[in-house]
Amino acid sequence: MSYRPDLSGVMRAWRWPAIALMLACTAVSSRAEDDAPSPGEALYQARCASCHDGAVARAPDRGAMRQLSAERIGFALGYGLMSQQAKDLSQREIAAIVRYLRGTASPVTATLPDSTCHDPAPQIDEASLPRWNGWGGDIRQHRFQPADQAQLGADDVPRLKLKWAFGFPGEVKANAQPTVWGGRLFVGSPVGRVYALDARTGCQRWTFDAGFGVRTAITIGADARGARAYFGDQRGEVYALDAETGKLLWKQKVEDHQAAIITGAPTLADGVLYVPVSSLEEVLAVDPRYSCCTFRGLVAALDAQTGAIKWRGYVSPPARAQGTSSIGVQLFGPAGGAIWSAPTLDLKLNRVYATTGDSYSNPAQDTSDAFVAFDRATGQLAWSRQMTEGDAYNVACTSQYRSNCPDKTGPDFDFGSSAILVDLPEGKRALIAGQKSGMVHALDPDHDGAVLWQRRLGRGSTLGGVQWGMAADDANVYVAVSDVSQQRVAPGTPGAQKSVFGVEMKLDPNQGGGLTALSQATGEVVWHTPHPGCNDRPGCSPAQSAAVTVIPGVVFSGGLDGHLRAYAARTGAIVWDVDTVKDYATVNGSSAHGGSLDGPGPVVAGGMLYVNSGYPNYGGMPGNVLLAFSVDGK
Ligand code: HEC
Repeated sequence: MSYRPDLSGVMRAWRWPAIALMLACTAVSSRAEDDAPSPGEALYQARCASCHDGAVARAPDRGAMRQLSAERIGFALGYGLMSQQAKDLSQREIAAIVRYLRGTASPVTATLPDSTCHDPAPQIDEASLPRWNGWGGDIRQHRFQPADQAQLGADDVPRLKLKWAFGFPGEVKANAQPTVWGGRLFVGSPVGRVYALDARTGCQRWTFDAGFGVRTAITIGADARGARAYFGDQRGEVYALDAETGKLLWKQKVEDHQAAIITGAPTLADGVLYVPVSSLEEVLAVDPRYSCCTFRGLVAALDAQTGAIKWRGYVSPPARAQGTSSIGVQLFGPAGGAIWSAPTLDLKLNRVYATTGDSYSNPAQDTSDAFVAFDRATGQLAWSRQMTEGDAYNVACTSQYRSNCPDKTGPDFDFGSSAILVDLPEGKRALIAGQKSGMVHALDPDHDGAVLWQRRLGRGSTLGGVQWGMAADDANVYVAVSDVSQQRVAPGTPGAQKSVFGVEMKLDPNQGGGLTALSQATGEVVWHTPHPGCNDRPGCSPAQSAAVTVIPGVVFSGGLDGHLRAYAARTGAIVWDVDTVKDYATVNGSSAHGGSLDGPGPVVAGGMLYVNSGYPNYGGMPGNVLLAFSVDGK
């Protein structure tokens, strides 16, 4: 079998602690394995089903995993995100699980045709070429593309047609936002392959294998020495590549905690990279034998030239022992306050702003679910403003193994999106962010985060409210609401998933979604456009969880239903709507399918609109495609 590649470096770097699986049936003897009709199924039920059959919303379900290539599942179990869950499984047992998940279909091993570009690449530093850099397009995280860079007028939007599609081979999700710079499009993928494609045609300039999932947007920094591409991976490592060749210049582990991951893009200013760090410890805590919890959110500042760490700004002091759980396991706290999204830079006050997630354990800390401001030179916490008090939560709280669940149990109202720094009339400014609670908050950065206004737009829940990001032009902030909801349905209902308690659940086609424009100055609702409806498609949710993007006159918002919609910025009328859920012929020859739009938002540059489709987590639809639209597909 070819799916245990020699990646000893990855193995060494990825040392999870000794958390054995929480499930009882660990012993599947080799005799039983030989005799049993489907050893893979037995192993799956014993070792994987507790999380993957509905109990852990973040874990892809069996249908989604079935669409992964055998190599991809083997990689996840042997070296990747699931290496801890599989660490005591033999190669043979892993092979049996992979066979079970893949059914009888032969593994996807087709070699792809060569899609390397034949024409010479434009100069990487060619300043006339349009750009969208990093997560927000600018260091204030506006997610706004001005007219000269967008080169796409409001009148052009209804004529957008698919120009090309690119398939991420063997993937079930496409969850990294593209960056456009120097005529190239840079994008990461869940298996850790980073691509530089020609922005107009999708042919390939180079690829780089990080060996571990890359879901951050890529941030380009350019000076006389050339252009560099910076990003983070799912084990807490930051990379700098030569953007022209894809050659590795340096890499740096920014946090030693075994559960640290980087989901937000680095933000770059004056030769310093500000890297947000989040973690998967909230999921590890579901194992009752895991000593929960010790991770604390941070921003790390790195010298962009060398990767040297200048400072680490943590949101709380190191965790201390906090007594034992009901089954006698030592607990630690405070912990949590993960930073999921790209930091926001304030060059006027020399501050780095970030938003934080919940606490993982007792005691709940006062910097979770908060806006935090670090001094840009030292990393000292200048101020913090908490939006939800006493929110301590981890995945144990929603499993049947509750011993690691903290006293407060939720409500799990993280911030998943960056704060946007905007200028208001009369020299005032606001720092605006949306929360999973369904609230949008505006703080005054010039008065240590004093609250300017707050507005409720969603009901909020663990996957509700505002998830991945809003966008701001010069007047409004545009807010999409998730509020995804699952309902209990009769067994066998199409699109249903079974939870560990044997209950069939399905996404509620009537709950969630909607896009709202708020005045930046007052928080008043300028317009609200509800989701237009699911049309009875099985398993469809109207939730709009993906980040929003705006160009002059038009706002773009994607949904779990797989649609990308464009709204008139003045009225909220829907002016364009494309359903991405279908099969695509791709420029790289990979088979590809569209699915839910979640996580990153679309990117507009040089008359093209790029969007990734496919996000199977939380009951969404799998997919593995990057779509590039242009006016009339030309
Ligand atoms: C403790 C809960 C838990 C258990 C047990 C578990 N998983 Fe997972 N698994 C997850 C979560 C959560 C994710 C999603 C992680 C993410 O995307 O951040 C995941 C992701 C995956 C993925 C996708 C990985 C990727 O790189 O995108 C695969 C494949 C997978 N699991 C297979 C398995 C198999 C097979 C088993 C049994 C041997 C297993 N898992 C056991 C929680 C679990």
